[in-house]
Parts: sequence; C-alpha cells; structure tokens
Amino acid sequence: MYADIRLGVNIDHVATVRNARGVAYPDPITAAALAELAGADGITVHLREDRRHIKDRDVFLLKETLTVPMNLEMALTDEMLKVAEALRPSYVCLVPEKREELTTEGGLDVISNEAKLETAIQHLSSLNIQVSTFIDPSRAQIDVAKKVGSPLIEIHTGEYAEANSVKVRSDALDRVIQAVKHADELGLVVNAGHGLNYNNVADIAGILPIYELNIGHSIVSRAVFEGLKTAVFQMKQLMCDARRNAYMLYAKS
Ligand code: PXP
Repeated sequence: MYADIRLGVNIDHVATVRNARGVAYPDPITAAALAELAGADGITVHLREDRRHIKDRDVFLLKETLTVPMNLEMALTDEMLKVAEALRPSYVCLVPEKREELTTEGGLDVISNEAKLETAIQHLSSLNIQVSTFIDPSRAQIDVAKKVGSPLIEIHTGEYAEANSVKVRSDALDRVIQAVKHADELGLVVNAGHGLNYNNVADIAGILPIYELNIGHSIVSRAVFEGLKTAVFQMKQLMCDARRNAYMLYAKS
C-alpha cells in the first residue's frame, strides 16, 4: 500500500538567527505555524544543554500552538527527562550531545547506554511519549535499539550527506538502505535525517520503509534566499514612503 513520506521540519536555526541579536524575531513559533501551513507533518526542536538556539519558553509555547506532532530532540540527561515530563511532546528523539559540537555529530551509542536507555524509554513511554533513538546506520546499534524497547529509530544520514566522492556517497547510501531494511524487518518505525538538502534528499526519500525525514538547516537556508527579494523590496518601500511623506510635510510647512 502506498503511504506518503512525512516531513518533520526542524526550526532550530530560526532561533539561532533570533538569538544572534538577543531580540524576539525571527520567532520560531511563527516559523512553525508557517511550516505547518506549507505542509510540514511535524515540527522538530532540539533543546540543547546550552540553549544555543531553541529555549525552554519556545518548546512550551509550541506545545500550545502546534496542530501537528512535536518531536523534541534531547540528550539523555536528568535535566532533559524532567523537561520532557513537564512538556509531554508527541515524540522524543534521544540524541548524543557534546557542548563543543556545531551540530549532532554521529548517532547515539545505544550499545554503551543500554541500561540507561531502557529505563528512560520505559519511563517516557509510560507518559504516552513515543521515543526514538538517533543512531548510525549500523546493524548492531539497531539490534540494541530494538532490545531496549525503542519503537522508533532515526537513522543518521550525515555520512551520506557529507560524502565528498561518488564512491563514498554510494557506499554510505547503501549502509542507510541496509539499515532501514533491517530495522523494518525488526518491526521498528524508521525515520532519517541530518544534512539532507535539496540536492541529496531524493535518494533517501526513495527508501520505501522510511516513515519521516527530519530536515532543518537546508530548509531555513533556502527560506533566507526565497524570502530575501521580498524582504529587501518591503524595506525599500517603507523607507521611500517615509521619505515621500516627510517631503510633503516639509512642503506644507
Ligand atoms: N535529526 C536529528 C536527530 C538532528 O539532531 C538534526 C540536527 O539537529 C536533524 C535531524 C536535522 O539536521 P539538519 O539541520 O542537518 O537538517
């Protein structure tokens, strides 16, 4: 049976731009509403330990305003578990987190976090939160994700997206395909994401069992260019209108 692929839009980098000036705009809540209007099936936010982009206030406001599921990406820490308990998002995606990294580098090592993960997944599931683990396309990691009771996984597509030769890319794509197939056979729901953009998404979106792709940076980047002409035009118009009005007032006085 044909099922469409879902798009989870990650709006973290709208908050990155906002935070760069410490003002209230661009507002990630408005960005989420616009993404929904354009067909986003879910909104993803990563509440990082250092709050470098999305902040606590954003996730609680989104909980009030979203009409599509919220996917909260978070590290497996006591602090984040408390946030998830209070917030109750539809989904939690457990990710590894290093303070100094630019973005999530590599998947969560579910093998060395097995016991901690099992407890967290049981706890979050008891709160009706669907939990996924963000893992590399590795059979061993998938097997442990299944074992600890993660009903969903998200396959890290970074190696594929960042490949700098045709051979490396095709090998990485093959690893993603094999991983998705294996996870699907185990009965896991499979999402994928990281580094997907307008040039490389098609090969991943074409992998049939994948349920949802989570995409952020490339969409926010494209939005800047798609919107820049209008933004400049509107600013210039405001300035010219103001100048015309000022001349008219001056002429009258
Ligand atoms: N999925 C997960 C688990 C992530 O951590 C990220 C990055 O925050 C993404 C998807 C989106 O990656 P990108 O911004 O490269 O599209």
